[in-house]
Formats: sequence, C-alpha cells, structure tokens
Amino acid sequence: MNPYILAVTGASAQPLAERSLQLLLENDRYVHLIISQGAHELWKAEKGIVIPGDPSKQEIFWRNRLNVKTGKLDCHRWNDHSASIASGSYRTKGMAIIPCSMGTIGRICAGVSTTLIERCADVHLKENRPLLIAPREMPLSLIHLRNLTSLAEAGARIAAPIPAWYTKPSTIEEMIDFLVVRLFDGFGETLAPINRWNGPC
Ligand SMILES: Cc1cc2nc3c(=O)[nH]c(=O)nc-3n(C[C@H](O)[C@H](O)[C@H](O)COP(=O)(O)O)c2cc1C
Repeated sequence: MNPYILAVTGASAQPLAERSLQLLLENDRYVHLIISQGAHELWKAEKGIVIPGDPSKQEIFWRNRLNVKTGKLDCHRWNDHSASIASGSYRTKGMAIIPCSMGTIGRICAGVSTTLIERCADVHLKENRPLLIAPREMPLSLIHLRNLTSLAEAGARIAAPIPAWYTKPSTIEEMIDFLVVRLFDGFGETLAPINRWNGPC
C-alpha cells in the first residue's frame, strides 16, 4: 500500500497526532512523519517532552513511546525540501495534517511552501490527492474561515476535531479514538473500534 504522510503542526491537540501515528503503525501502515517547529514547541509546552530534532532519532523515540513494532515509519525534518515526499512523482495514499495550526493553513492557502509540510500539502492539492486538514483554533477569525473555505474549494477535506457526545465517552482516550477514527474515515480506513451512531436504542 502507498504510504501516508502524517504532518503534525503547532496547534493544541498533540494527543490526536500521537494516537493517529500509533493506530496507523499498529494497523501496519507505512507513514512518513513530519513534525513542524511549532509542534516541537507544543510538545515542550503541553507535555514537557522534547522530541528529538534529528529525524534519524525520531523513529526509535516514537516506537518506544508508543510501544509499537509494526508498520513502517520514515521521519523527516520540517525543512527538508529534498525529501522524496516533496515531489509530486512520489506516490502516496494521501496526507493528513493533525492538528493543523492556523499559521500552516494560511501558508498552504497562500501557496507559500516554506516548509516540507506546506510543500507536501501543495503537492497533494496539485496532484488531486487526498489532503485531510484537522484545524484547531478557537474562536475562528474571518481570515481563518476564509482560508479554510479556500482550501476546501481547492480539494482539501476539512475535518475539525470536534468531539461527539452521542458516543457517551467515559474517558478522554475514548474521545480521542473517536476523533482519530472519524478523521481517517475520509481515507476509507477503520483504525480502531468506536461507538458509531446506529439510531436510538
Ligand atoms: C501552547 C501553545 C498552544 C497553541 N495552540 C494553537 C492552536 O490551537 N491553534 C493554532 O493555530 N496555533 C496555536 N499556537 C500557535 C502556533 O504554535 C504558532 O502559530 C506556530 O508558529 C505554528 O507553527 P507551525 O504551523 O509551523 O506548526 C499555539 C502555541 C502555543 C505555544
């Protein structure tokens, strides 16, 4: 199967990114991972954890942290424009940006490919390949809303990670799993069992 690109940016929902990576690898998927500079800061700020800056050290870090041996993982530096995935000729199943900051959204929207994440998103739009964007900000300004509309018009799937209550979650982990599985529904994946709405009992 062609690989996924999973990009993680500096918005406040890093547990969603972490669980996405874990479920993809547990389901034996091939993942190219890019962590933005902002996401590195978020991990320090929210969890007190320093993700190795050197991509060659990141695979061991994630595999130990997530306790997963399966799947294939290639980690890329946020500014490595020579990476295989920066080219439209490199085939993927699609790209997911979880979570996606308003800064990254603005730059993708403007076609400003300053980072590998923005370049890969640009490639997925130009190649008409699935691009899932999970924006996280609250409240949203008119600029954010306009940028999200432009990206939806350009072909991106905008899936804000907003929890549902009909599943009656009893833990944050259950809520995270529901969000991650719903995000990957767009790729035709079912990464974990969740309570879906089947009508009133
Ligand atoms: C603790 C913390 C939380 C943040 N949360 C958000 C957020 O939820 N959404 C957002 O768009 N930006 C948020 N930011 C700001 C971004 O991290 C900042 O704009 C950064 O430059 C984004 O860079 P990136 O898009 O390259 O990751 C937050 C910053 C910090 C330090």
